[in-house]
Amino acid sequence: MTDTQKTAQLSLNGETYELPIFSPTAGPDVLDIRKLYAQAGVFTYDPGFTSTASCDSTITYIDGNEGVLLHRGYPIDQLAGKSHYLEVCYLLLYGELPTATQLEDFETRVTRHTMVHEQMHNFFRGFRRDAHPMATMVGVVGAMSAFYHDSTDIADPWQREVAAIRLIAKLPTIAAMAYKYSIGQPFVYPRNDLDYAANFLHMCFSVPAEDYNVDPILARAMDRIFTLHADHEQNASTSTVRLASSSGANPFACIAAGIACLWGPAHGGANQACLEMLKEIGSVENIPEYIERAKDKTDPFRLMGFGHRVYKNTDPRAKVLKQSADEVLELLGVEDNPLLQVAKELERTALNDPYFIEKKLFPNVDFYSGIILEAMGFPTSMFTPIFALSRTVGWISQWKEMIGDPQNKIGRPRQLYLGETSRNYVDIENR
Ligand code: CMC
Repeated sequence: MTDTQKTAQLSLNGETYELPIFSPTAGPDVLDIRKLYAQAGVFTYDPGFTSTASCDSTITYIDGNEGVLLHRGYPIDQLAGKSHYLEVCYLLLYGELPTATQLEDFETRVTRHTMVHEQMHNFFRGFRRDAHPMATMVGVVGAMSAFYHDSTDIADPWQREVAAIRLIAKLPTIAAMAYKYSIGQPFVYPRNDLDYAANFLHMCFSVPAEDYNVDPILARAMDRIFTLHADHEQNASTSTVRLASSSGANPFACIAAGIACLWGPAHGGANQACLEMLKEIGSVENIPEYIERAKDKTDPFRLMGFGHRVYKNTDPRAKVLKQSADEVLELLGVEDNPLLQVAKELERTALNDPYFIEKKLFPNVDFYSGIILEAMGFPTSMFTPIFALSRTVGWISQWKEMIGDPQNKIGRPRQLYLGETSRNYVDIENR
């Protein structure tokens, strides 16, 4: 944050108040209203935080008008094309790309933490057999605070570091276990000779009864999906993690809160909802009917995987995923996948429709990811857990940044109260 000495004036009830302006390294200036209530006795009103910067951060930058997404300054398409997930994790956590030695050390540390406490198996078994894997993940990740007492003290930088590594390492194991449990198959232990993405495929798709060889191209596609979901600035689930953490809650509780928030269909749940929508549309002839429904204000239907609070031009992650969808389906020999045909035609129709043009609605990251995941063999219920495990590094990086920030205070928004003013209690016989 650069203090430019610039100020804005607010005139209110005959008084003028000076509001400092901060200039970021990129993006719009920010008005500092922290003293506004103390000085002028008014709150600001911004439901949905459409114009509010809730923190300062050096991790991720988005320019929604230009379709730009940078992690620590590096464009997402370069990271998706040239880097890999664990290297991006290092970048998000520590601020710089690692040297070869640093990367090897980081990968070793993550790999050594991939197993979960054996007693956690019993915890999984307490869930109903058909539980949604997201429901299981919210519970199990929260329960990590009961299993890893030596990494819950947020005042200790070493414990924060261990918690970060544990979460990045164990989330794929937990997501895979939630999946295995939901389909009645035995849990598969991690294999530390495999890389992060290949190990996740192994834990999801192998069974003790036969050999399973991870296809390196599928592992690469998996890694790319992880990379594209790694962080996304102050979105709903990240803000949830920050808000939960502002009270001093332990990291496992905070990440569980982030997972719960991500589950909603307007956020991470959109990938599942999008694929279900593509299946419901079924074939390209039905597209016009669904486009009309999406435009009809009396119909709650929305095009899932379309639109974004910040991107008003293009979602750079969707561009990379569209290309990945083609590659993965070709590899699997299903180029004529009917869902991909529906998705491409739906995208083409919407992008030429005045409603979507005027409202700047474009495919987002969730539009093509479900097609790839389904082609890889994942059921729709696993789409959001995969998003959650990928985003864990973003949540934990933002959490670490926040804990280390001396300005950190408990998040406590105010409100525009429109309820009754004080009135006297009425005894029940008189109501
Ligand atoms: N289909 C039809 N109309 C839409 C859509 C859509 N997918 N998205 C927005 N609109 C319309 C909306 O009805 C509104 O119209 P009007 O101005 O006439 O009231 C206008 O566009 C602006 O929409 P909004 O709801 O005010 O915008 P928002 O910034 O609050 O919401 C959003 C953003 C992502 C929640 C929304 O676009 C949406 O619900 N999309 C579908 C769900 C989805 O794909 N979510 C994934 C987002 S990316 C990954 C992630 O965040 O996890």
